[in-house]
Amino acid sequence: MGYENIRVETRGRVGLVTLNRPSALNALNSALIAELNTALGGFEADEKIGCVVLTGSEKAFAAGADIKEMGSLTYMEAYLNDFITSWDQVSRSRKPIIAAVAGYALGGGCELAMMCDFIIAADTAKFGQPEITLGVMPGAGGTQRLTRFVGKSKAMDMCLTGRMMDAEEAERSGLVSRVVPADELLEEAMKAAEKIAGFSLPIAMMTKESVNRSYETTLAEGVRFERRVFHSMFATEDQKEGMSAFVDKRKPQFNNR
Ligand code: CAA
Repeated sequence: MGYENIRVETRGRVGLVTLNRPSALNALNSALIAELNTALGGFEADEKIGCVVLTGSEKAFAAGADIKEMGSLTYMEAYLNDFITSWDQVSRSRKPIIAAVAGYALGGGCELAMMCDFIIAADTAKFGQPEITLGVMPGAGGTQRLTRFVGKSKAMDMCLTGRMMDAEEAERSGLVSRVVPADELLEEAMKAAEKIAGFSLPIAMMTKESVNRSYETTLAEGVRFERRVFHSMFATEDQKEGMSAFVDKRKPQFNNR
């Protein structure tokens, strides 16, 4: 499929999606989101893909929802079309997705990054939920996910003042997993993705599902869920291979079964 707002590549077992709407700092309009969902759906269905990297440009991961597109929306249009719900595809993906963020990740851009499994930030990254400056609030999960990442006080600060957080503060607050020099961002994100994609895909998917369960349940239920999934891993060929390889002092050859 020909994409106009994103670039889609496969590098080994890693799917790479680059948001590519430079004239609007990768502002997320409906065309871009539709393309992103198609690309992610393709990677999700492709057994050869073990991990996905989502990135933007040097200047912007994404500067938010497209203000020009949504500015004139009426309540009925927003309600009847369930505006923004289709953006959730990233968070519904079962394969690991890494956000590689340089420059602005604002509003829906920050929310999109937070839907990924973890964020690697360039030292130039700037995160923010500036929706309040536009007379709205975050609408793609920002009030919920940011609070879970950085806690109530900082989430309130970000959402109520609309201020930006730099990469150093984002790492200190737990929003991003690591900060790297801007010119090494893609290389570092690809290295992490290749590492993940080199493990067993079903095991990585189950691990992701279990970590995500911690957001949705109590500790006791979450641990029970983890235990059930952990037990089920002993039915996989990859568990036998991984542990035999350790004992034999060789590199495991996972076959994703
Ligand atoms: N929507 C539409 N267009 C946008 C945009 C957005 N979110 N962000 C930037 N652009 C456009 C600008 O209008 C400009 O286009 P023109 O050249 O045609 O004028 C182009 O991108 C470049 O932007 P700037 O000239 O503003 O670049 P800058 O370097 O001076 O400033 C910036 C960069 C601080 C990121 C600034 O562009 C900005 O504040 N953008 C808006 C950020 C924002 O408020 N995001 C939240 C959107 S609401 C939302 O996301 C709701 C939700 O929760 C889902």
